[in-house]
Amino acid sequence: VDVAVIVVAAGSGTRLGRPEPKAFAPLAGRPMLSHALDGIFTLAEPVQLIVVAPDAELQSARAIVTASAGPAIGYTSVVAGGATRQLSVAAGLAAVAPGVTVVLVHDAARALTPAAQFEAVIAAVRATGSGVIPALPVVDTIKRVDAAGTVQETVDRAELAAVQTPQGFVRSELDEAYADPAADFTDDAALLAAFGHPVGTVAGDELAFKITTPWDLARAERLLAAPAA
Ligand code: C5P
Repeated sequence: VDVAVIVVAAGSGTRLGRPEPKAFAPLAGRPMLSHALDGIFTLAEPVQLIVVAPDAELQSARAIVTASAGPAIGYTSVVAGGATRQLSVAAGLAAVAPGVTVVLVHDAARALTPAAQFEAVIAAVRATGSGVIPALPVVDTIKRVDAAGTVQETVDRAELAAVQTPQGFVRSELDEAYADPAADFTDDAALLAAFGHPVGTVAGDELAFKITTPWDLARAERLLAAPAA
């Protein structure tokens, strides 16, 4: 296969307030990770799937992958994550098979991301030969505030985008950045940018929102119960 998808699911998810790590919390009767794999298992082309899970959940992650495995998967691995998202991605990257040229990194917490978003990112990485991330315009007015909460200035939102996953990269560029990461970033596009590699965007999808709080989980439950028209 030519494409690997690394699904990072090793976060604890303290803001969700659940006893189990976030990706293993129930969403409409099955673990969030299981939903996150739905879109990947319906991709048109076979990919290598790598799930990065907390050490204590490796067996459970393997069971979830096996239970949901669909035809579009070349082969799968489940590996243990690290203390930060970046370390978890590094663990996943170490499992990417020889021959893979495009690597997607996806948050398990974006459990409702449509398959079309993966396909758009893969196509754009191939077309541009550089990193590509899904982005949405920012709808809120954004302020810079100081530590006391006093408004300092309004940031021009026309210059801002809210970015999602999967983030897609040319494998060699991602390998290079991860061999000597400049800092611990919250996404891979920042790491690539620190190496001077351009990163483009494709249109994101509202359904790819990140489940972080109990409110987000309730919203995901509602969307699964009654998909928006
Ligand atoms: O915490 P947050 O929702 O921003 O994390 C984004 C994604 O990164 C989640 O899918 C989470 O499981 C993953 N993550 C990870 N390893 C960590 C921290 C976060 O795989 N140490």
